[in-house]
Amino acid sequence: MAGEAEPAKSPDMAPNDMTPNGMPSRVLLFGAPGSGKGTQAALLAERLGVPAISTGEMLRAAVAGGSALGRKVDAILAAGSLVDDATMGEVVRERLARADARRGFLLDGYPRTIPQAATLEEILRRHGAGLDAAILLEVPEAELVRRLTSRGREDDREDVVRERLRVFDEKTAPLIGYYQQRGLLRRVDGDRAVPDVADAILDTLRRAA
Ligand code: AP5
Repeated sequence: MAGEAEPAKSPDMAPNDMTPNGMPSRVLLFGAPGSGKGTQAALLAERLGVPAISTGEMLRAAVAGGSALGRKVDAILAAGSLVDDATMGEVVRERLARADARRGFLLDGYPRTIPQAATLEEILRRHGAGLDAAILLEVPEAELVRRLTSRGREDDREDVVRERLRVFDEKTAPLIGYYQQRGLLRRVDGDRAVPDVADAILDTLRRAA
């Protein structure tokens, strides 16, 4: 039995395959705060038939629900800092083990550091799967600041936005080289109307198929 030959792999996740419409099914969206990751993940999840998994949303829900995780991360989110890699690894490991992520997912906001990228690889390897594409949404900084400061989320105060952008440059931008080396990086111009960005991502994924 395959399960006996490969005891480290979970039977919960199908090996890499395409969505029913022939598109890659294990995809992450990354980019600076305000680049449109959440907006695009929600749109594309519907088109691809896989769940959008936003670690930012999960953490905000934990804060709103007053769970132990929420109490731990509340001040970190408010300051625009990153939650530690070990905590995020637990959150994502548990989420990817759920049935709806079995055939694929759109990850929004994870990984954000090189150690998180290594953890994701390890989680997927245990499931006998791998990542299909890492989509980088590119948007000029002035437009990022404009979008965020006109939205009004709790962490969208201008000083916190500046800190989130700084943290992106320091901790998350190194993922560009990481995924380039693995042949998974796909750059998409995110400085366009929302539907045009979605079409560009779908074109990119079709070419990656
Ligand atoms: P998270 O929620 O991931 O925040 P973020 O990366 O700062 O991103 P945003 O949600 O602000 O922007 P987005 O790129 O998703 O753009 P969106 O579609 O919303 O994380 C929040 C916090 O949680 C982090 O700071 C950290 O503390 C913690 N965290 C999360 N994941 C973590 C991890 N892995 N490790 C450690 N800590 C973690 O759009 C933004 C705005 O622009 C919206 O108003 C939208 O309507 C608008 N917009 C979108 N697209 C367009 C467009 N094409 N044209 C015009 N406007 C647009």
